[in-house]
Amino acid sequence: MRHRTLGRTGWDVSEVGFGAWAIGGSWGKVDDAESMATLHRALDLGVNFFDTADVYGDGRSERLIARLRRERREPFFVATKAGRRLDPHRAEGYTRGNLEAFIERSLRNLEAEALDLVQLHCPPVDVYYRPEVFAALDDLVKAGKIRHYGVSVERVEEALKAIEYPGVQSVQIVFNIVRQRPAELFFAEALRRRVGILARLPLSSGLLTGTITTTSQFAADDHRAFNREGQAFDKGETFSGIDFDTQLRFVRAIAPLTPEGVTLPQMALRWILDSPAVTAVIPGGRRPAQIEENAAASEIPPLSASVHEQIGACYRRDIDPLVRHLW
Ligand SMILES: NC(=O)c1ccc[n+]([C@@H]2O[C@H](COP(=O)([O-])OP(=O)(O)OC[C@H]3O[C@@H](n4cnc5c(N)ncnc54)[C@H](OP(=O)(O)O)[C@@H]3O)[C@@H](O)[C@H]2O)c1
Repeated sequence: MRHRTLGRTGWDVSEVGFGAWAIGGSWGKVDDAESMATLHRALDLGVNFFDTADVYGDGRSERLIARLRRERREPFFVATKAGRRLDPHRAEGYTRGNLEAFIERSLRNLEAEALDLVQLHCPPVDVYYRPEVFAALDDLVKAGKIRHYGVSVERVEEALKAIEYPGVQSVQIVFNIVRQRPAELFFAEALRRRVGILARLPLSSGLLTGTITTTSQFAADDHRAFNREGQAFDKGETFSGIDFDTQLRFVRAIAPLTPEGVTLPQMALRWILDSPAVTAVIPGGRRPAQIEENAAASEIPPLSASVHEQIGACYRRDIDPLVRHLW
């Protein structure tokens, strides 16, 4: 497993991290024993960066990660998120008092004295125009409640605004083969300011693995069934917000480009890691075999210029016009 430095934190994080949404909830049935086996396997394979949130299974994934800390000696970093407990989820809710309460709750769930990294959880756009929110986070760092903070964003322009705040160490954003726009302006700016980038939905909710087909069925409590059109949250979080059949056709078009000895999910992850601005990919998974396949993406050589060109051409032809002006 290779490592990259996260922003200005000085932390060496594994370039393949672990996304803990699916072991929390909103992905159909989940089994804690299997989730724990997956977390343990991730650590065995050198993964030392876990992304979670206070709302995933209402704290379930945070509590599983706390258990992992109790059961293992190896040090690892945990990034959690705050803000989505607000109901209604409005910019006015991002007060110092509310943030402090969310952080206290995550400290209890994670059984920690300080949180490694707290990310604002895709807040409404107005939050980025409220310097007092970032001042409150600076004070939480000074008080020793959090070590660092960052943001998780929906849109490229939110990312560009967020990194104007000097305390922001990381930006989490949807970046994958079917969502390439962050690499244009934002990555250059993040590199210039030494801000870490966490690429979420690296597998486009599983679609880029090739295991999902037109006949795949999803449980009613799996967001891949209930949020296709953004009924519950931003539709970009489900299959990257791209029509299912269109994206399946795209996956069929790029599948033959997979190098020998490499699987389709590994090519999808490698494609992201080939961007030097990216700190880590954070694929989700609920089974040890998935993290085994995903972690190995760190070891394979970069994709050739020709593969990058061909993927780029397919993207520009089939996908870019559908997503460019939405995120
Ligand atoms: N707003 C936010 O801040 C936000 C939003 C979304 C995600 N995130 C973070 O980003 C992480 C990653 O995103 P994501 O989990 O939504 O999407 P993802 O990583 O693109 O897809 C994860 C899903 O792909 C399938 N999968 C994973 N590895 C596989 C493999 N090797 N072969 C076949 N299928 C495989 C699994 O689904 P099945 O086995 O169930 O098919 C898994 O749950 C999340 O876990 C979360 O930590 C943050």
